[in-house]
Amino acid sequence: MNVLVTGGAGYIGSVTVELLAKSGHKAVVIDNLSEGHKNAVPERHTLITADIADGEKLDAVFTANKIDAVMHFAAHCYVGESVKNPAKYYDNNVIAGLKLLNGCVRHKVEKFIFSSSCATYGIPEKIPITEEEKQIPVNPYGETKLAFEKALKRYSAAYGIKYSILRYFNAAGAAEKLGEDHRPETHLIPLILGCAMGKREKVEIFGTDYSTPDGTCIRDYIHVSDIARAHILAMESDFSDCYNLGNGSGYSVKEVIKAAEKVTGKKIKTAATGRREGDPPILIGDSKKISEKLAWKPAFASIEKIISSAWKWHRKNPEGYKE
Ligand code: UFG
Repeated sequence: MNVLVTGGAGYIGSVTVELLAKSGHKAVVIDNLSEGHKNAVPERHTLITADIADGEKLDAVFTANKIDAVMHFAAHCYVGESVKNPAKYYDNNVIAGLKLLNGCVRHKVEKFIFSSSCATYGIPEKIPITEEEKQIPVNPYGETKLAFEKALKRYSAAYGIKYSILRYFNAAGAAEKLGEDHRPETHLIPLILGCAMGKREKVEIFGTDYSTPDGTCIRDYIHVSDIARAHILAMESDFSDCYNLGNGSGYSVKEVIKAAEKVTGKKIKTAATGRREGDPPILIGDSKKISEKLAWKPAFASIEKIISSAWKWHRKNPEGYKE
């Protein structure tokens, strides 16, 4: 299939582009490079540096490349930032996203794969979280992802475009040549590894008074390559549905630090600080549905394996991608 990958120069997008090519599909990347990296897209793939809100540009890209499916990764994704600057999140994740979706309708795209998030569930009633859980987000980031999910379902019913909504839990780890390089970095695992490499002095622990066994937040970490594979399976399926994408086991912030100490052999200095606004205490996903319907199974089920892959990439690329 000819696949337009928005945000294909970003962390999860670039790993998916690589896998699309390996699976016999043709990826066309559109990325405004506000957060993505040109060097994360090998030259053999088409990289169009443009914004998805640019309708004229989109029309030209759809027409020139006969796009069958769209994988939509381009979005802002920081929970904390979304609380402080919701306008940035609504503008990009909802308004620009709808422009892309309108383009898909104009050009009769068959399938739309959307990067959604467990942040759409807010504070769940039941753990692990199934797709049946009520979606009541507690931060603007989750609200924007939910708003787009709703629009996508309506567009599907009215205009016939098929969709797969993938609600990721915490993406982590690296592929051999592609890894996580956010600037500034805010995610726990790369921050910890930055300390292990001597680039940072310490890791702050955001909240030690949550109602969890050690008082720190629990998350379900899932390897970026496992997320990428789920996208291909979803695109190749011919029905519309929503799926959780997690490993089904949770690790607290302190447990992640301990696992990273084991993997790296370095002691990580920490400092307990206050809670970060918008953080739910526990998020663990039940991914039974995608396992049953699309035969997806994570290859990286252990946190050590996930951290190990990231550690390898960060040591090889201490300054991240060269610009
Ligand atoms: N954390 C710290 N210190 C840090 C950074 C993070 O204690 O310096 C904690 C956070 O409070 C959280 C956990 O580590 O409990 C993981 O935080 P990340 O920032 O790595 O990831 P988030 O859970 O905030 O967010 C990520 C993605 C979102 C996605 C979410 C789903 O960025 O897009 O996972 O849980 F929605």
